Amino acid sequence: MTAPTGYPELDALLPRIDAIPNLAAAELDEAEIALVGRKAGALTAAARAVASRAPEERRAFGQAVNALKTATEAAVAARRAQLAEAAAASERRAVDLTMPARRRWVGVQHPVNAVIDEIGEIFRALGFTIAIGPEVETEWYNFLALNFPADHPAMDQHDTLYLDAPRVHETPGDGKLLLRTHTSPVQIRVMQSSPPPIRVLIPGMVYRSDPFDPSHAPAFAQVEGLAIDEGISFVDLKATLTHFARRFFSADTAVRFRPSYFPFTEPSAEMDVACQLCKGLGCGACKGTGWMEILGCGMVHPNVLQCGGIAPERYTGWAFGMGPARIAMQRHGVTDIRLLYEGDMRFLGQFARGGA
Ligand code: PHE
Repeated sequence: MTAPTGYPELDALLPRIDAIPNLAAAELDEAEIALVGRKAGALTAAARAVASRAPEERRAFGQAVNALKTATEAAVAARRAQLAEAAAASERRAVDLTMPARRRWVGVQHPVNAVIDEIGEIFRALGFTIAIGPEVETEWYNFLALNFPADHPAMDQHDTLYLDAPRVHETPGDGKLLLRTHTSPVQIRVMQSSPPPIRVLIPGMVYRSDPFDPSHAPAFAQVEGLAIDEGISFVDLKATLTHFARRFFSADTAVRFRPSYFPFTEPSAEMDVACQLCKGLGCGACKGTGWMEILGCGMVHPNVLQCGGIAPERYTGWAFGMGPARIAMQRHGVTDIRLLYEGDMRFLGQFARGGA
């Protein structure tokens, strides 16, 4: 409480001065103007009025006015500082340090890509390098150079996704443009661009006009392997692929080769490995056979070597093509291939590297 001055017109202002410490920001500005504002402040007016008072009164009155002005200004400044501090504190409280943190998004490798990488590691140790080729191919690379006869059913509209794209570079015999149905056309591209000895692994996506159902996907990954050198035989093929299966699965994994047919290999085979889920006993995943088919393979057909510009009298080679999604499905006990290829992060997010 500010002490009374004994001057009624000054003491009338005391309640307003005493109220200052409780004013809100806007009221504080108003009170300051009303009391000590330069033009219309009540105390400013009182100071001006000193001269019109009786001479013996002037000094005491003037001192009383000055004391009130000083007290008012000090109270206004103190209240203003207090309000600023309160505002800053409430802003600090707006950051709630007890709120649970937002989860950081940590990407994980796709289970199919993890399999491709592991396959790559095993073949890298055997001297293979990686090659890639275009997903949009010509009929020649995808079929004809691979010894498919021109009327082969695989070239049918129903099986292959042909493109109706304008052609920039076309050479006679290229045929139509299509989405490659396998990674084998890259065999030809590698043969054309690098002389033997050749040892390459070719990963990539391939496309077929298949339904998207538990065992088919219209787009899926393949890994192709190709080895060409002088004196390469079927023994090299069997030994290398058996070594691969034992490194990839386990040292005691049984493998078997079954005769098969591909236009671009002769002889051709399919390689099975013991079902990883039932260890060969027979279960739902291997349809009771105890085996799972993981790849097609064979000795590169002489016509294919020729199309790649390699002399079949001098060189021989073997090739294989496998589906890493099948292997990932076996590994993780997934029974529907769509889970791997439809991009649902709730499913894919579970596969931390080296995890389950
Ligand atoms: N390209 C064949 C397929 O997609 C697989 C394969 C590749 C077979 C190489 C033999 C040699 O089914």
